[in-house]
Amino acid sequence: MNILITGGAGYIGSHTIIELQEANHEVVVIDNLSNSSKKSLERVEEITGKKVPFFEIDIRDKEKLNELCSKNKFDCCIHFAGLKAVGESVAKPLEYYENNINGTLVLLDVLRNNNCKNIIFSSSATVYGDPAIIPITEKCPKGQCTNPYGQTKSMIEQILIDLNKADPQWNIVLLRYFNPIGAHKSGKIGDNPNGIPNNLMPYITQVAVGKRPELSVFGNDYNTHDGTGVRDYIHVVDLAQGHVKALKAINNKCGVAIYNLATGHGYSVLDVVNAFEKVNNVKIPYSIKPRRAGDIAMCYADASKAKNELGWEAKYDLEDMCRDSWNWQKLNPNGFN
Ligand code: NAD
Ligand code: UD1
Repeated sequence: MNILITGGAGYIGSHTIIELQEANHEVVVIDNLSNSSKKSLERVEEITGKKVPFFEIDIRDKEKLNELCSKNKFDCCIHFAGLKAVGESVAKPLEYYENNINGTLVLLDVLRNNNCKNIIFSSSATVYGDPAIIPITEKCPKGQCTNPYGQTKSMIEQILIDLNKADPQWNIVLLRYFNPIGAHKSGKIGDNPNGIPNNLMPYITQVAVGKRPELSVFGNDYNTHDGTGVRDYIHVVDLAQGHVKALKAINNKCGVAIYNLATGHGYSVLDVVNAFEKVNNVKIPYSIKPRRAGDIAMCYADASKAKNELGWEAKYDLEDMCRDSWNWQKLNPNGFN
């Protein structure tokens, strides 16, 4: 297929390009580079030995987007572009709604006008809020999102569902990612957050590389096996492969299809720290701090729907994730800079 990838210079997008090209799909990448570097795409080219056609386009720029889509016949769009920092979204709600929601509306309008009515959207487990069922199946009702970032994911899902209702020619796959960590095994690409990392794994790797003195563990009084928060961490390469498999749903004219992309295993913060120390033979000093506002105790998935319908399941375990995250950070202490 010929696939338009929005936000393809970012963490998950760059890993997905590799898997798509390896499966012989054609890709065209757009990104405004607001949270990424073109270097990630150069690294992808080093890994695959193939060119990555790239255009620096903001998804809100209707004219440029339309020009690109009218010159290329895209069979499908994989839509990663969006702002994703939870804390920043609380401080800058207008910017988040404008970029994520308005950007998606412009993108959808241009796709429709150019008769590309197939889209795979990067959603998140955050739409389940504090989940009503554990392990979380796709039937679990959506919950209350505690921040504007999460709201944009939930709203975009609804926009896409409404679009399919109005025009059933649209095929829409909503991929609800759990907690992506890890990096390509080459160590050439990986997660490259700006400033102080919000998420657990990049924080751990920055402690390991000596950039931060210690990890703060946010709460050890949750109702979990060791009191720290439990999440379903998934290797970013497994996640990337999930997108290739999701094209099957598009080809089968799925209408709207929703899949959790997860391993189905829940690990606590201390499980991750212990696995990281064991597999990489580095010490991660930590101290217990109060709970982080908006956090939930436990979030892990039932990932069987994607296995049964798409033939996809995660192959990498927590130790692989810890090893590959550290390999990326060690080889690139300052990310792409
Ligand atoms: P990322 O920030 O690395 O990648 C997103 C990319 O989108 C960046 O390269 C950024 O420059 C680009 N972008 C942002 N706004 C844009 C715009 N208006 N026009 C063009 N490009 C724009 O993030 P990621 O971790 O790769 O996440 C990809 C997608 O998956 C995002 O939509 C994110 O919300 C979603 N997601 C991520 C996680 C996670 O933990 N990483 C979890 C669930 C969902
Ligand atoms: C967070 C976001 C979620 C988003 C996801 C991926 C919140 C409330 N949720 O999920 O919306 O989709 O990132 O970007 O921000 N932890 C520590 N110390 C740290 C960092 C994290 O103890 O320095 C703990 C957290 O309390 C949590 C676990 O590690 O228990 C995972 O945290 P994180 O990586 O931020 O992911 P989520 O909170 O699951």
